[in-house]
Amino acid sequence: MRDAVAEAACRLAAAGVDSAGADAAVLAAHVLGVPRDRLALAGGFDDAQARAYADLVGRRAGREPLQHITGVAYFRHLALAVGPGVFVPRPETELLVDHVLAEVAARPGRSLLVDLCTGSGAIAVAAATETPGVEAHAVELDAAAYAWARRNVEGTGVRLHLGEAADCLPGLDGRVDVVVANPPYVPAGTPLPAEVGADPACALYAGADGLDGVRTVAAAAGRLLRPGGLLVCEHDDSHGESAPALLSDLEGWTGIRDHRDLAGRPRFVTARRS
Ligand SMILES: C[S@@+](CC[C@H](N)C(=O)[O-])C[C@H]1O[C@@H](n2cnc3c(N)ncnc32)[C@H](O)[C@@H]1O
Repeated sequence: MRDAVAEAACRLAAAGVDSAGADAAVLAAHVLGVPRDRLALAGGFDDAQARAYADLVGRRAGREPLQHITGVAYFRHLALAVGPGVFVPRPETELLVDHVLAEVAARPGRSLLVDLCTGSGAIAVAAATETPGVEAHAVELDAAAYAWARRNVEGTGVRLHLGEAADCLPGLDGRVDVVVANPPYVPAGTPLPAEVGADPACALYAGADGLDGVRTVAAAAGRLLRPGGLLVCEHDDSHGESAPALLSDLEGWTGIRDHRDLAGRPRFVTARRS
């Protein structure tokens, strides 16, 4: 087993996969149907498993995203169903949920939350399942992503809506406590690594400066939030000044602050509706 995984790791590294050793181990655990931390205790592959493993390693060497191959993306405590057609949730987005939960905990009663651009449903499902203090709505424009989100919201209480963030949920105008979003934010034409390019284009690109998604979210949040309500919006690490400036240029926002991720890069902006 150890030799098979080491050999696969070499093959993945040669193909330019950054996390070659970890991915080789995850794929081996996937083939054996065991948690990754039990891999060392597992016996070797039988013939069918060895063939399946070689096939999956070949797909990963072709730079298919690991999560598309296993069908699972881990996000906080969740194992979300993902595949072609939906954005694979990233670890840096987990920080937005911490911010949302702190806001919810500081308020009496239940908070009304809207996750714009929900993709797989990651943010809304994490928030709704980590605290009973949230009534969560999630909005997604793309039908393929919506279909993945349908699977992930099942049984969580999150209400999922297929539609455009700009004019979604008019019945909640002026009533929402927290709007959270990880919109598309890659400037058009930016070359991307193969795995990122496997995410749908509508999840990635956001106009010439990459800020069109943040503009859409800011306008929708301005309409949805009650006075004092909080916006939490992820942005590209090159937007640490431009995303807060965009909100400053609009009327009705106070307490605008930018936040860094665990790697120290500018990652999301928060602001209150005045
Ligand atoms: C970067 S992905 C984020 C997905 C998820 N929130 C996450 O963090 O994993 C952006 C998502 O927004 C959706 N989207 C893009 N423009 C939208 C719009 N105007 N209204 C609603 N959803 C939109 C895309 O289809 C995509 O699923």
